[in-house]
Amino acid sequence: MEFIRRSLIHCKRRTHSIGTNSWRCNYSVKKEKVPLAEGPFPRRVVTGLQPTGALHIGNYFGVLRRCVQLQDQGDDLMLFIADLHALTTYQDPSALQDNILDVAASALAAGVDPARSVLFVQSAVPRHAELCWLLACLASHARLAHLPQYKERAQNNKEVGVGLLLYPVLQAADVLLYRAARVPVGADQLQHLQLCAQLVKTFHHRYGRLFPVPQPLLPEDGCDRLRSLRDPSKKMSKSDPDPKSRILLTDSDEVITLKVRKAVTDCNPKVTFEPESRPGVANLVLLHCLACDLLPEEAVEEADGLTTAQYKAVVARALCARLGPMRARALELRAQPRLLRDVLRAGATRARARADVTLHDVHAALGLAPGSADRTLRAANE
Ligand code: TRP
Repeated sequence: MEFIRRSLIHCKRRTHSIGTNSWRCNYSVKKEKVPLAEGPFPRRVVTGLQPTGALHIGNYFGVLRRCVQLQDQGDDLMLFIADLHALTTYQDPSALQDNILDVAASALAAGVDPARSVLFVQSAVPRHAELCWLLACLASHARLAHLPQYKERAQNNKEVGVGLLLYPVLQAADVLLYRAARVPVGADQLQHLQLCAQLVKTFHHRYGRLFPVPQPLLPEDGCDRLRSLRDPSKKMSKSDPDPKSRILLTDSDEVITLKVRKAVTDCNPKVTFEPESRPGVANLVLLHCLACDLLPEEAVEEADGLTTAQYKAVVARALCARLGPMRARALELRAQPRLLRDVLRAGATRARARADVTLHDVHAALGLAPGSADRTLRAANE
């Protein structure tokens, strides 16, 4: 854990330098050593993970691994724990606290480095909610009520909270607050990002160009197409009531092996990759591909001569080998809540300074509270 501690010291130093420079320094290429992506905007990647329970391998391969790759390529990564989004359904307060630390431990264990990237909790930066309101005033009710995720959740609930309707507006605020050019997400988030792009266009039309139009970064390796292990006609999902339907980052080798052994396939024992007609077997192939960085045809070739039952043992071994070291690191970190809180606190300080810069410009563009933005910014920089 020495690496995290060293990172934290380094990160405190950087926080200080952000705080004492004028706000323009945040965007200075020389200061942050980050190449520009779109005109005056930083090469910044922003994404959020909801703390609604342990992360599953789809979250890891789809979002976390991608974030770490981008960080390692020199992108300016901001990863936050979306606790405000989680509140659209009731969360037990103490479980929420635990879940936030679980996600933080998983992110660090996956390789997010607090010296280079900003890891924080959404609610620690009140500007998210503030920008959400300003964007809500630009959003059309009909458009929000028409989004498939809203319609689906509204259908399943007797009382539909306003938070559910505003969910994608808050998500747009998360991204625009940091003027992110790119957003790593699973395909299920595409519509939310389209709404975000639309809000940017409306904003530009009324007030001038202040944000880049954020581009979604979708996984190319099919990790957002992972199916439930119990019912391959459904997506692997955090909210599925059957815990055997998904593999969690916290699962032990025994649990992983059991879940893969029990995965529903079909009565043909041959291993093929036919996602349409044989989704259960294709899911095993996909898991094998993700665990070993293979293409589906390479995985099928490796399975040559094996029955699906024998192949399950190969897939389970590969997953255990891939996830084991990360799980051990996450457990070690999770046992140090104070360290995790320090990382999150330092991340929030840096995020707040960046958010203040954007809101300063937004206030000026909208003609809000003349002068107050300058004062807030000065306070942030002191
Ligand atoms: N809605 C996202 C999900 O459920 C989480 C999220 C919240 C997010 N805010 C975001 C993702 C901003 C990307 C950008 O997965």
